Amino acid sequence: MGVLRGPGFFSISILLLLGYSRIISGSTSTDLLYSYFEGGAYISSEDLTPKNGSSSQRSNLPSTSPSLEDEEYGVRSSMYSEEILELAKRPETVEWLKGLRRRIHENPELAFQEYETSRLVRSELDRLQISYRFPFAETGIRASIGTGSPPFIAIRADMDALPIQEAVEWEHKSKVPGKMHACGHDAHTAMLLGAAKILKSREHNLKGTVILVFQPAEEAGNGAKRMMQDGALEDVEAIFAIHVSHERPTGTIGSRPGPLLAGCGFFKAVISGRKGHAESPHLSVDPVLAASAAVISLQSLVSREANPLDSQVVSVASFNGGDDLDLIPQSVTLAGTFRAFSNASFYRLLQRIEEVIVEQASVYRCSATVDFFEKKTQIYPPTVNDEYMYEHVRKVAIDLVGAKNFIVVPPMMGAEDFSFYSEMIPAAFFYIGVRNETLGSTHSGHSPYFMIDEEVLPIGAAAHAAIAERYLNEHG
Ligand SMILES: *[C@@H]1O[C@H](CO)[C@@H](O)[C@H](O)[C@H]1NC(C)=O
Ligand SMILES: *[C@@H]1O[C@H](CO)[C@@H](O)[C@H](O)[C@H]1NC(C)=O
Ligand SMILES: *[C@@H]1O[C@H](CO)[C@@H](O)[C@H](O)[C@H]1NC(C)=O
Ligand SMILES: [Zn+2]
Repeated sequence: MGVLRGPGFFSISILLLLGYSRIISGSTSTDLLYSYFEGGAYISSEDLTPKNGSSSQRSNLPSTSPSLEDEEYGVRSSMYSEEILELAKRPETVEWLKGLRRRIHENPELAFQEYETSRLVRSELDRLQISYRFPFAETGIRASIGTGSPPFIAIRADMDALPIQEAVEWEHKSKVPGKMHACGHDAHTAMLLGAAKILKSREHNLKGTVILVFQPAEEAGNGAKRMMQDGALEDVEAIFAIHVSHERPTGTIGSRPGPLLAGCGFFKAVISGRKGHAESPHLSVDPVLAASAAVISLQSLVSREANPLDSQVVSVASFNGGDDLDLIPQSVTLAGTFRAFSNASFYRLLQRIEEVIVEQASVYRCSATVDFFEKKTQIYPPTVNDEYMYEHVRKVAIDLVGAKNFIVVPPMMGAEDFSFYSEMIPAAFFYIGVRNETLGSTHSGHSPYFMIDEEVLPIGAAAHAAIAERYLNEHG
């Protein structure tokens, strides 16, 4: 399917339905940030309006901003950020991380088929003497480190690859024709194992329990939803996840509070008329005309019915009728995608897409049915960062990589199945840069040329570990 591109910053993509693709990016400048932020504020003022304290409505956690107490604590926390980074950057750890990532990269597995990847993760957990439960959602794993008592805090990695033929020529190129880790999930898995190793070595410091969630099927099939249905988030009070970004230099970290990634759905409509010879149109009922009118009318949903500050998309990406130039076809199939940053806007679009297509078809004496693939769970809710959890990520990231390497990113029209977690419990999703011009890691996710700068691995592992450990320190 098509590729959408903005003026460039972080990008994230998911696969759905008709093919794998979908890259979205936005730009950041102070001006843009503000306008985006206000757009977001309109969408869900509940989430974005600063509350008394700093916690959003979604979070029922302590809502105090850093106070005097925290100042002293801040010194201590940046000390252990350093300790964690030092552990992560030990040469033997870096080599181990690269080795893991390369093994996973060489053997990419698609959604719900991550059997070898899952086996590799479990054997490393065994080696680290970390206990886990398995399986969740076919290949998923829930490991735990710490006291075994509350609070339970989760960090998540996705393990699936894409049906793309790798075009990068390098020593550890995918060995499976037509499959590739083109979205960095190999790196996510390695980084979470890195965090496991670090946290295990600091288990005595943990004031609660870290749950490591290795999930299948982020790109297709709503693995996150299945993981939750199988109980992977039992007792967990908050969850964090990382995604690599080719748009920012290696090791920089970015995120934003509130809506971060759009809700994403797909539709496919069949508009039926009555076929007939094209030279006698009065004897047929023309679905091409009806479908054309529907495409035009769909354009008004965003331009006329949505608040301009509440970003939404409706795109018809496929239009198929007959192939005989002398025949009006029996039916035309329209298909496309729609995006929105709030659940309400998303479901309003869904309802209006159906109404517009059905009603517009009837104007031209045709009938129409619209399928949203709900049964195949092809709907992704918006990914909304809890303000308090975002703030936690920001604090830890600044300790770890420095204030100038932390960026507040604009929301993006891409989608991510982490949204299923963010719908249920306070959550924060953040990006880590993998761009290195010298290496050539400048291609977007889902490109056959996608590659990462492996120097990101220890930094990502440290970010995961520090986020979890510090959270428990502050809440345990
Ligand atoms: C915020 O909370 C403090 C302490 O609970 C209270 O004194 C103050 O009036 C509150 N401010 C607002 C604007 O609600
Ligand atoms: C989103 O809206 C739909 C339709 O109104 C509703 O059924 C669903 O429960 C909502 N989901 C959330 C998380 O609010
Ligand atoms: C890019 O990678 C090269 C080779 O590993 C390294 O020497 C250089 O420092 C990296 N540049 C950045 C900006 O990270
Ligand atoms: Zn991805």
